[in-house]
Amino acid sequence: MRPDGEGEALRHVHQPIRHDAADRHVTGSAPYIDDIREPEGTLHVVPGGAPVAHGRLVRLDLAAVRAVPGVVAVLTAADIPAVNDVSPVAGDDPLFVTDVIAFHGQPLFAVVAENRDTARRAARLAVIDVAEETPLVDVADALAADADLMPAYAFRRGDPEAVLAASPAPVAGTLRIGGQEHFYLEGQAALVIPEEDGTYLIHSSTQHPSEVQHVVARVLGIADASIEVAVRRMGGGFGGKESQASGWAAMAALAARVTGRPAKIRLDRDDDFIMTGKRHDFLVSYRAAHDPAGRLEAVEVRFAGRCGYSHDLSSSINDRTMFHADNAYFYPQVHIHSRRLKTHTVSNTAFRGFGGPQGMVFAEHLMDRIAWATGRDPLDVRYANLYGTDDRNITPYGMVVEDNVAEALIRQLETTSEYRARRAALSAFNAGSRVLKKGIALTPVKFGISFTTTFLNQAGALVHVYQDGSIHLNHGGTEMGQGLFVKVAQVVAEEFGVALDRVRITATHTGKVPNTSPTAASSGTDMNGMAARNAAAEIKGRIAEFIARDWQVPVAGIVFHDDRVWAGERSLGFAEVVKKAYLARTHLSAAGFYATPKITWDRSKATGRPFFYFAYGASCSEVTIDTLTGEFTLDRVDILHDAGRSLNPAIDIGQIEGGFVQGMGWLTMEELVFDAKGRLRTHAPSTYKIPTARDVPEDFRVAFFDNPNREDTIYRSKAIGEPPLMLANSVFCAIADAVHALAPGRAVALDAPATPEAILFACCKQTGEG
Ligand code: MTE
Ligand code: MOS
Repeated sequence: MRPDGEGEALRHVHQPIRHDAADRHVTGSAPYIDDIREPEGTLHVVPGGAPVAHGRLVRLDLAAVRAVPGVVAVLTAADIPAVNDVSPVAGDDPLFVTDVIAFHGQPLFAVVAENRDTARRAARLAVIDVAEETPLVDVADALAADADLMPAYAFRRGDPEAVLAASPAPVAGTLRIGGQEHFYLEGQAALVIPEEDGTYLIHSSTQHPSEVQHVVARVLGIADASIEVAVRRMGGGFGGKESQASGWAAMAALAARVTGRPAKIRLDRDDDFIMTGKRHDFLVSYRAAHDPAGRLEAVEVRFAGRCGYSHDLSSSINDRTMFHADNAYFYPQVHIHSRRLKTHTVSNTAFRGFGGPQGMVFAEHLMDRIAWATGRDPLDVRYANLYGTDDRNITPYGMVVEDNVAEALIRQLETTSEYRARRAALSAFNAGSRVLKKGIALTPVKFGISFTTTFLNQAGALVHVYQDGSIHLNHGGTEMGQGLFVKVAQVVAEEFGVALDRVRITATHTGKVPNTSPTAASSGTDMNGMAARNAAAEIKGRIAEFIARDWQVPVAGIVFHDDRVWAGERSLGFAEVVKKAYLARTHLSAAGFYATPKITWDRSKATGRPFFYFAYGASCSEVTIDTLTGEFTLDRVDILHDAGRSLNPAIDIGQIEGGFVQGMGWLTMEELVFDAKGRLRTHAPSTYKIPTARDVPEDFRVAFFDNPNREDTIYRSKAIGEPPLMLANSVFCAIADAVHALAPGRAVALDAPATPEAILFACCKQTGEG
């Protein structure tokens, strides 16, 4: 019997079980890369970066660097035995620059020394001559220069231009959306241990161990099979270690290869800021036609995204912006256009939501624009535009929205958050308050689950049952704090009907499960949970067959629960059963596999079903702004989120709260500033502000929307990793709502992030003082 949440009681799944390493995280006994005991003779690697953003490298004199006592080697491109490329897809990320410098801080060389401090000091002694050229720094520069990194891409339905031309009062405008630094607490790190006969064991802080394997193999010119990559955990990844952990592992591997000694790299925080990619920032321009009730008739939107100097994952990321430019709304006639721009800045990369959040901020801004133009409550404009049934359920990319629960979810949150009463109270407050203004917004989230690069939607697992009844669990997913490991362990314990502590969680390892996809796109549990269940089910089936023979009972009647195996009234403890099965020569190990069903996506035709399903949510935020300083307080947040039937409500609440706060940071306080020379000026916590525990809203009410996944996912749960980040859109919209109160009917000029400066600027514009 396979319990799916119906019938037989489930012991482990759907339970609020704490993170398997929670105690170790808070007591400091969970080892991260830099905590792994270093093998004797371990060397330390520090990269040396380009002093300018753009130009030709004329001279790189490393004599002074080499002369420092304790420096063992100084690596440049000349030391690379095979290919000077650490890119994930396009072949355009050199490990070390040989000729043209493409961004400030781009690695030119690396120092390998007996200790890190020596390496850091020595790196500063390089003499670097560059024939400097003027860099393209931001989106506007790149647009002016027509610097497209790759071809533009578009979704189109109908003839929105004609509808717009005929519309009496279209809304139009531009919106800037800022980028975001990942600020994972553990920076980029890798420890490479050379083993016998030209093989390497690599401990890497990566979301994508298989890609680290491939990239190191490519750089060193050795076979994939000569490299093992292990990842027990990351101290946060957030997308920043999906493609961009590989280069650092390759640098350390090259050091190990050249010196024959173990080599470790652990980026300095400033280097990590300067040398690794961030969330893409966008310039969005749009026009939209709507009827007097605020219902959309046509939308034309143009996204211009800053990719940085190379492709990295920018193609898929900008695609996802387009996939989410509708958020939860039906655009009858539509043109979504996307340009992907090349700048002389670090190559932007995956970041929680993978481009989706930027599309959704646009959609919510559009709803507000229409509300301000029509005088209707923004929530009513949102209702008027939600996906519906029949002819109102097809996305701009041709996928039918089959699982839409947005309206029911929003209506429930409207009630529980007392949106209408608070709207009335807040209007009364604003009428009597000159300096402080309050704002409220209730915004939905609809997020597509699956990699839009279809082949990535596969996963593997490896399960062993030992003679004492303990279970070794391994799968292709990586743990970055999101609770993937405990969730998959719950699934395996459930399948075997055993106590959770029988299941030993182990580090992700390319030698155990090969050819893995990155742990990304929120699909870790969906895919690895299924693969692990398949592996466990196979072993369980073999044990059941053995017991059926041994007890002379029908195999169909054998069940596993309460840490025992049962045939009617007769039962035996799991460990005893396993021992007997072993002695009878039963194979107690299995590999499991899973490939997500139903998905099809034809990018060349811009149509298909890129997503297995959608995850939904909504949030209601209330803020108070100080119109004289631009500061705001987040007074209350209500969230209702669709985790399907949550596999682990404790973990999922944590993901919702954490995702929300990270999104709020992106939209209200985290600001990346590059100067005209393309140098990142905000490269440390002193100049780049992320939210802290003190920024968590005091009144924070998080609840699940009860909605078992209609698709056959692992125990009917839904992916949770990324969607909650976009719940923070309500904070941005609530701030805009407060600014709007200064002069109702006028469109608010607020870009993201809504820092105090941006809010103050918008207030001045609103009252005509700007
Ligand atoms: N939660 C924590 N604590 N740390 C992280 O690095 N990364 C997020 C999300 N939640 C992250 C996190 C991102 S970007 C993704 S894609 C998912 O977790 C990946 O894990 P999952 O697929 O297991 O949800
Ligand atoms: Mo998450 S941005 O898909 O790693």
